[in-house]
Amino acid sequence: MKELKIAQSAALAAGKIIKSYYGKKFTIRHKGEINLVTEVDEKAQKTILKIIQKAFPKDAILAEEGDKSKTEAAPRRWIVDPLDGTTNFAHGYPMFCVSIGFERDGKMECGVIYDPLRPEMFHAVRGKGAFLNKKRISVSKPTELRKALLVTGFPYDLDNPKYNNVPIFLHMLKKAQAIRRDGSAALNLAYVAAGRFDGFWELGLSPWDIAAGMLLIEEAGGTLSNFAKDKMQITDHHLIAAGPGVFGELQSHVHGSWIPA
Ligand code: IPD
Ligand code: CA
Ligand code: CA
Repeated sequence: MKELKIAQSAALAAGKIIKSYYGKKFTIRHKGEINLVTEVDEKAQKTILKIIQKAFPKDAILAEEGDKSKTEAAPRRWIVDPLDGTTNFAHGYPMFCVSIGFERDGKMECGVIYDPLRPEMFHAVRGKGAFLNKKRISVSKPTELRKALLVTGFPYDLDNPKYNNVPIFLHMLKKAQAIRRDGSAALNLAYVAAGRFDGFWELGLSPWDIAAGMLLIEEAGGTLSNFAKDKMQITDHHLIAAGPGVFGELQSHVHGSWIPA
């Protein structure tokens, strides 16, 4: 599939830039009080867009940094997060990735998530499975939440009651085996697909955080929903994902402890 090849070469090129700046000096701007963007996010995005546009000049692109007008599904659309985990990257914490998804008529067709440090290339193609460095991956098999390692995140907009994860987090602490929070939603989804985490939930996510990761989870045999228990759409902000063994339990606890604003 040409789109997969292009997504992977764009992710590799962006990853190379990101890695070359890791631990070095770069400029940082604030998009919000704690929401950062670095020159590396921008350079990585420019490179990705150049590669996609050269191969598919007519395709729509929704990318995090800059023009966000392509919010509607298009016949062909790319959804790009050039650097997911910017805060980690800016602090030299090694947990970040590039995420690129390709969608046709509103359906995600392929997605890649690339961690340039390890290096790990996750990819999925609709109907063809999910892979890590070309080896097939699948979600984990625990059947009880008490034995599950979960991961979550906290949005930048901490004062917005719509995105309050604290009550859910407190509730889940006593239900799961353990919970991690490590600052890259896209990589968290890839790790659920690979069975490293048993489940994930987060509020306030954007399409570029989840586009590729949602397909990875589906193709790895996992299940996704929004907090209202409906099928997760890319335009939903609150996501629950897990393997089928714990999904029902995770979903009912998240739903039950969520205070919708
Ligand atoms: C963020 C990360 C983080 C999540 C935030 C996202 P960014 O993306 O995925 O884990 O909690 O909601 O915005 O800004 O690093 O690309
Ligand atoms: Ca992101
Ligand atoms: Ca980003």
